[in-house]
Amino acid sequence: MKKNSKLKVSIIMGSQSDYRVMKLAEITLKKIGVLFETKIISAHRTPQRMYDYAAKVEQNNIGVIIAGAGGSAHLPGMISALTHLPVLGVPVESKKLKGLDSLLSIVQMPKGIPVGTLAIGEDGAINAALLASAIISISNPNVRKKLKNFKTSQTKSVKKTPK
Ligand code: RP5
Repeated sequence: MKKNSKLKVSIIMGSQSDYRVMKLAEITLKKIGVLFETKIISAHRTPQRMYDYAAKVEQNNIGVIIAGAGGSAHLPGMISALTHLPVLGVPVESKKLKGLDSLLSIVQMPKGIPVGTLAIGEDGAINAALLASAIISISNPNVRKKLKNFKTSQTKSVKKTPK
C-alpha cells in the first residue's frame, strides 16, 4: 500500500453482461464518496488476467474487492483464494436458474477462503457497496461521515403511514 493514499474499492465482474447489476455498486459508492475502479475479469475466460490482477491489489491501493458473477460463479472465491483482502460476492441473476446457481457457487466456500456473500442481483450490488464503504470508513473519516449521513437520511425518508 502506498503511504498516505486512500484505499479504494475494486469492483470486478465476470462479464460485460454483469454490468447492468454491478453499476448499482458504482452508483452507491459515488454517493458515499468512496474511490473505486471497475474491471471485467473472468475466472473462466480470462484466468491470466485474474492472476495478474490479484498479484497487484496491494500496490494498487485496494482495500476491499466487490466481485459479481453469475451462473457457475467462481470469480469471488478465486479472488479470495489469491488475496488477503475482504472479498464481497454479488450473485448475478442467471438466465436459467434465476441466480440460485450464482448464490450457491459464491456462498458455499470451504473454510479458510471466505467470501462475504450478498443477496442476488441489484440489492446485493447496493449492499456490497454499503458494506465496502463501512469497511473503508474504519480508516477514512470522510467516508464515515458520509455513510452516517446516508443512513440518517434513509431513515428520515421512511414515512410513518402509507398515505
Ligand atoms: C459468468 O457467466 C458471468 O459472471 C456472467 O454472469 C455469466 C454469463 O456471462 P456471459 O455469457 O453473459 O458473458 O462468468
